[in-house]
Amino acid sequence: MKIIIVNGPNLNLLGKREPTVYGSQTFEDYFSELQGKFPEVTLTSFQSNIEGEIIDKIHETGFSYDGIILNAAAYTHTSVGIGDAVKGIETPVVEVHISNVYQRESFRHTSYIAPHVKGIIAGFGMQSYELAIRSFMKD
Ligand code: DQA
Repeated sequence: MKIIIVNGPNLNLLGKREPTVYGSQTFEDYFSELQGKFPEVTLTSFQSNIEGEIIDKIHETGFSYDGIILNAAAYTHTSVGIGDAVKGIETPVVEVHISNVYQRESFRHTSYIAPHVKGIIAGFGMQSYELAIRSFMKD
């Protein structure tokens, strides 16, 4: 099974960025733990602060991978383009957020991606990514 985690803007700062909201672990450390937990999954990751690069990665993987785990970060709340990319591919997408966006500012309650995804996992810290992997394994 081939699954990719696609992370959007500022998620390269995990570990340093607002640790009370996002925790103190780097994504690289967490990702190695995840790979150890799911040796049967071919798990890769991609991060970009650039909207078009995220769209390109969704196109590149969206017809051959078994699952895309997408944390589009702030673009979740603004990007018609990323929403359209998710709508246009065949690979199922799970939208993930580390924080519970519904407990936060109202602008974070809107997602341009949500209408096109299989499901949404938010608020479980970094564990949100693991839950998303498990959701694909249930198929
Ligand atoms: C986030 C929530 C977004 O609102 C925010 O802009 C992020 C991260 C999360 O994982 O909780 O950058 O997607």
